[in-house]
Amino acid sequence: MRSETDHHEKVGSVLVVGGGVGGMQAALDLAESGFKVYLLEKEPSIGGTMAKLDKTFPTNDCAMCTLAPRLVDTGKHLNIERLTYSELLELSGTPGRFKVLVKKKARSVDPDKCTGCSECMEACLVRNRPYSPGVEPELQDVEGQELLVLREILGRYPRGREAIVPILQDITAEFNWLPEWSLRMVAHTLGLPLSRVVRVATFYNLFSLEPRGKHIIRVCTGTACHVKGAGKIVDSLERELKVKSGETTDDRRFTLEAVRCLGCCGLAPVVTIDEEVYGKITSARLVKELDAYPA
Ligand code: FES
Repeated sequence: MRSETDHHEKVGSVLVVGGGVGGMQAALDLAESGFKVYLLEKEPSIGGTMAKLDKTFPTNDCAMCTLAPRLVDTGKHLNIERLTYSELLELSGTPGRFKVLVKKKARSVDPDKCTGCSECMEACLVRNRPYSPGVEPELQDVEGQELLVLREILGRYPRGREAIVPILQDITAEFNWLPEWSLRMVAHTLGLPLSRVVRVATFYNLFSLEPRGKHIIRVCTGTACHVKGAGKIVDSLERELKVKSGETTDDRRFTLEAVRCLGCCGLAPVVTIDEEVYGKITSARLVKELDAYPA
C-alpha cells in the first residue's frame, strides 16, 4: 500500500510504528488531539509483548487490565486506522511532507469479518495435523491393557466437546501424559477434529504430550520466587537430577518444570512435588526431600 503526502501543505495525519502498549497509547493521545492516526504493526494483531504477560514488574499488576482498555479504545476510535500485519518499507520526506511505503502482508481471513471464533484454526492444514473424521485410528503399537483403560475412560463421559478436558485429565491421571494415539481415540470417539483435541491438550500446563516422570517437580520462577532465589533452586535440581528444566530423568522418576507463580507468593521461593507444597525452601533441603519420592 502506498500512502503519500507529497504536496507542500502540512497534513494532520500521523503514522505510529509499533502496536504495543506504548504505540497504542501514543495513537490514542494523538487521535484525541484531533490527528488522523495510522497505527502500524508487523504482527497480525496489536498488543505487543504485554499481551503475552501475566503480571508486570514491579507492581505485579495484571497486564491485561492495563492493555485491554487501550485495545478497545484503539479499535473503536474513529481517528485511528490500524494497519496490522504490515511493515514500513520506506520513509522519506520532511516533517509535514513525509512519504511512506507500507507493505501489507496477505491474510487468509478478512479482518473486518473475523469474529474471533477460531474455526479457521481448526481447518488450517498448515498449523494443524489433518484428520479424517470417522476413521478409526491405527493402534498397532498400543498395548491391550492401555487400550482397555482408555476405552473405560471414554465410556465415562457423554459425546461432545465439553467432555474433552475431563477425559484428558483422566488420561493424564492414568498415564501421566497424553500419548498421540489416545488423542486420536478421543477425537474419534467424540466425533471432533483431532486439531480441536490437540488445541485443548496444548493449552493447559497440566497436560503433556511427552512422557513424564512419576513425580512432577514444579519450581516457581514467578517474580516473587525469582527474587528469593528460584534460579538457584532450578540450577541445583538440574545438577542433582542431571536433566534440564522441562525434561524427565532417564528412570522416569522425576520431571522438572519451571512454572510462573503457584499462587502462594508469600511463601517464596515455592516448589511443589506432586501435590506437596514446599514454601520458603532451600536447595539443600529440597534435594534431601527427593529421597521421600519412590521410583
Ligand atoms: S511468584 Fe512464586 S508463588 Fe507467586
